Amino acid sequence: MSNTKIGLGLAAIGRPEYINLRHETDIDKSEAFYREKAFNILSFAYDQGIRHFDTAPSYGKGEEFLQQWYLKNPYQDLSLSTKWGYTYMANWELGYAKPHEIKEHSLHKLKEQWSVSRNLLPALKTYQIHSATFESGVLENAEVHQELHRIKKTTGLKIGLSASGVQQNEILEYASKIMIHGEPLFESFQVTYNVLEMSTHDILKKLINAGKSIIIKEALANGRIFKHKDYGHYANLVRFLESLAVRYGVSIDAIGLRFVMDILEPALVLSGASTQRQLAENLRAQYFKLDLQDQLHLKQFAVDSEFYWNERKNLKWH
Ligand SMILES: NC(=O)c1ccc[n+]([C@@H]2O[C@H](COP(=O)([O-])OP(=O)(O)OC[C@H]3O[C@@H](n4cnc5c(N)ncnc54)[C@H](OP(=O)(O)O)[C@@H]3O)[C@@H](O)[C@H]2O)c1
Repeated sequence: MSNTKIGLGLAAIGRPEYINLRHETDIDKSEAFYREKAFNILSFAYDQGIRHFDTAPSYGKGEEFLQQWYLKNPYQDLSLSTKWGYTYMANWELGYAKPHEIKEHSLHKLKEQWSVSRNLLPALKTYQIHSATFESGVLENAEVHQELHRIKKTTGLKIGLSASGVQQNEILEYASKIMIHGEPLFESFQVTYNVLEMSTHDILKKLINAGKSIIIKEALANGRIFKHKDYGHYANLVRFLESLAVRYGVSIDAIGLRFVMDILEPALVLSGASTQRQLAENLRAQYFKLDLQDQLHLKQFAVDSEFYWNERKNLKWH
């Protein structure tokens, strides 16, 4: 039906607070509860056919939970991805008032985080710069590029990056041209793309055609495509999504994911599910295809990129 696979991201699974809109919330916020819950979701996901899991050191205990689960479940067919460049600061403190994640794109941080992340080998297949930007200097840091190239050559990993914000296009354009010893450094790009934010469409198609691996994150716009009192300006989109959900016999999330799969056909789209129920609903996206008319209609709901990212910047941690 489509070559796009659904993977599971651990951003909402490894810590008690995250920026999504939290339609469902856990009463028990302890680390022990989250560890148990993470193991259960990971096993459920594997049983449902998911083979790709995406994490980062800044997702609270997300990377540690994945490592511990993998130690107990050393499946041969897993394909994991993690990132480097952000440190988790909230230390499981509820209502933490300062930034939960701090960016540092230095060689020192790369070496420090790689020394932990490498424990995910051999299931680890993709190693990404976490939210590469021009401002952080990482796209021009020759020492970092050399070290990533060394990691690539010694492990066989795909080197990638994730991008966010209004400059996603420019970042992808620039990064895809970075060469080390005559070969492109980056083979994988993790990008935000959904029914509201499609500004990277053309470059992503170009990269897919060039054989790059495209991973889509935030395919449900962090929950903004669901009915929500703070997002009344998306009411027309929500109404249309609801009508499609009825027509295709699935829930809104499956329509949102399927839209990305049909219109872009990336290698992977990440589910951001935080419960087994959400994941089961998300996975129904695998079993139908949107009519062309519906795809075209949905495309019309894309908003201005600046507006999208401004709203994204103001999402609160719950
Ligand atoms: N810079 C980066 O590298 C970066 C940034 C962001 C994300 N990511 C990756 O992408 C993954 C996915 O992104 P994301 O979770 O931030 O965004 P997302 O997938 O766009 O959003 C998840 C939202 O959808 C809701 N949801 C999902 N299934 C649902 C269902 N069946 N019914 C109702 N609501 C449903 C969740 O609800 P709840 O609020 O109830 O949980 C949450 O609000 C992450 O886990 C991470 O691996 C990477």
